[in-house]
Amino acid sequence: MKYTFGSTLLCAAAAAATAAAQSCSSVLIPAKAKPVVAPGWQAQLVAGGLTKPRSIAFDSTGAVLIVESGKGVSRHRFSDFGGTCLAANHSHMLVEMKELNHGIALSADGATLYASTAEAVLAWTYDARGGAVRSEPRRVVANMSNSDLVTRTLVMSRARPGTLIVSRGSADEHAAHAEVVSSGLSQVRAFDLTNLTSADGPYDFSSDGIVLGWGLRNSVGVGEHPTAGTVYAVENSVDGVRRNGVDVHENNPGEELNFLGYANGTGAGRNFGYPHCFAVWQVDEIPDNEGLAVGKQFAIQENSTHRDETCEDKYAPPRLTFPAHYAPMDIKFTPEGQRAYVSFRGSFDRSSPVGYRVSSLAWDDATGHPVADASSTDALQDVITNADLSVCPDSCFRPVGLALDSLGRLWVASDSTGEIYVLQRTGGDQGVFVQPAGGSGGSNNGSGENGAAGSWRRETAMAGALVAAVVGAWLMA
Ligand SMILES: *[C@@H]1O[C@H](CO)[C@@H](O)[C@H](O)[C@H]1NC(C)=O
Ligand SMILES: *[C@@H]1O[C@H](CO)[C@@H](O)[C@H](O)[C@H]1NC(C)=O
Ligand SMILES: *[C@@H]1O[C@H](CO)[C@@H](O)[C@H](O)[C@H]1NC(C)=O
Ligand SMILES: *[C@@H]1O[C@H](CO)[C@@H](O)[C@H](O)[C@H]1NC(C)=O
Ligand SMILES: *[C@@H]1O[C@H](CO)[C@@H](O)[C@H](O)[C@H]1NC(C)=O
Ligand SMILES: *[C@@H]1O[C@H](CO)[C@@H](O)[C@H](O)[C@H]1NC(C)=O
Repeated sequence: MKYTFGSTLLCAAAAAATAAAQSCSSVLIPAKAKPVVAPGWQAQLVAGGLTKPRSIAFDSTGAVLIVESGKGVSRHRFSDFGGTCLAANHSHMLVEMKELNHGIALSADGATLYASTAEAVLAWTYDARGGAVRSEPRRVVANMSNSDLVTRTLVMSRARPGTLIVSRGSADEHAAHAEVVSSGLSQVRAFDLTNLTSADGPYDFSSDGIVLGWGLRNSVGVGEHPTAGTVYAVENSVDGVRRNGVDVHENNPGEELNFLGYANGTGAGRNFGYPHCFAVWQVDEIPDNEGLAVGKQFAIQENSTHRDETCEDKYAPPRLTFPAHYAPMDIKFTPEGQRAYVSFRGSFDRSSPVGYRVSSLAWDDATGHPVADASSTDALQDVITNADLSVCPDSCFRPVGLALDSLGRLWVASDSTGEIYVLQRTGGDQGVFVQPAGGSGGSNNGSGENGAAGSWRRETAMAGALVAAVVGAWLMA
């Protein structure tokens, strides 16, 4: 796989950096990482100082809602100077609740806000114009507590209005519980909220709703294709795997992209193999690998009744496999459905770090499925990554939540650095990252309109020549 950014594009990059820097009057400086973007993209840091920002949503006025894990939901308005030049002009906490840790969704009319704790999905009446919730939280889905994997991703279906898709991971030390569908563990379900009144009480995750998929260790990212209605999930597979006693964890199992059917239950309910079968990524690292290939699953410990063939017979294979340990967090589609963006928060259980990027995938808008074959190993195209993965995770941005705004710009939350980036596809090959390194710019870390969300550094754009030199250095790094 090629995961390099072309240094032959330096001249064009420098020119574009100069133009972008000159046209944007204020530019924030990344707290730690200095990400690099692929040719054809530009990016800018637009907010910092947040507390573990995870998922992002836009309300009906275009304001940005961000789940800050362990803190609540914050709301931000941005003065928009075009391109990726945006500056926060107002930030405040919409909901203060330390149990909120990942998921967010809005009803189709924008008047109900949903957010998740490890235990429940909560709903508030939301006044987008006033930028405030107007009710106490109501539990709409509950009984989801478990150890280990505690994010509960939320997706409001557009294909089936009023249906909320909820993802719940495994309790790894009780992995076997995932073999029973009524455990509610390691699965994605869909709940019809249209007729749910407060008198009904919340749905029970383990017994209500439609099971879209199970045998899923931790499908943190879930997305519904905008035109075809296909539901896809990106799976964080298991760490520390041995195959028939041999350590194969460095490059196996692969992370998965799984097709879960439709939010109405059509084509749904398949089991994807956890905790018995896992996606093949690097075949030659796996002993006794006859018949294995990318696109198939393997058994960790083969015996007389459980073999690789059992995996093939009993469980649904991934639609695509990604490199081991990439840690996919979110999947969002472009409005026409010809492309999906996937964030990868990056590895911790591998000798040299991998992941730590946002990539894009070509999608067939007519069928709602990826273009690449299931055996593909190069379906991902990089959008933004860290310049030097050897310093990850400590000095890297770690992408989590993604959101596309009404102008098609891609917003990316990095929980490790407390930052929000905005990316725009510029086409052609002149994409550059418009962030000069270091610098001694004035700080804007106080309270008030800009600083309500915490501390970050703001710096007036540097002179073109210096920006060009620094951008050049990043591209070559
Ligand atoms: C802040 O940005 C919003 C757009 O999100 C805009 O409508 C509003 O006028 C701006 N406020 C100020 C004080 O610039
Ligand atoms: C909660 O889920 C468990 C399975 O995880 C189930 O046994 C129990 O009946 C559910 N309901 C309540 C109210 O605990
Ligand atoms: C919800 O209410 C609508 C309108 O009364 C009805 O058409 C629909 O079948 C109901 N859905 C469920 C799941 O009860
Ligand atoms: C569910 O939705 C899919 C996609 O829109 C559609 O093809 C299918 O007929 C629907 N199934 C039912 C039972 O309504
Ligand atoms: C074979 O492995 C499967 C899956 O781990 C397990 O459930 C089963 O008990 C094992 N059978 C034997 C005979 O060891
Ligand atoms: C803001 O940053 C400056 C420079 O880094 C620092 O000296 C100051 O203490 C910070 N103020 C607050 C309120 O954090």
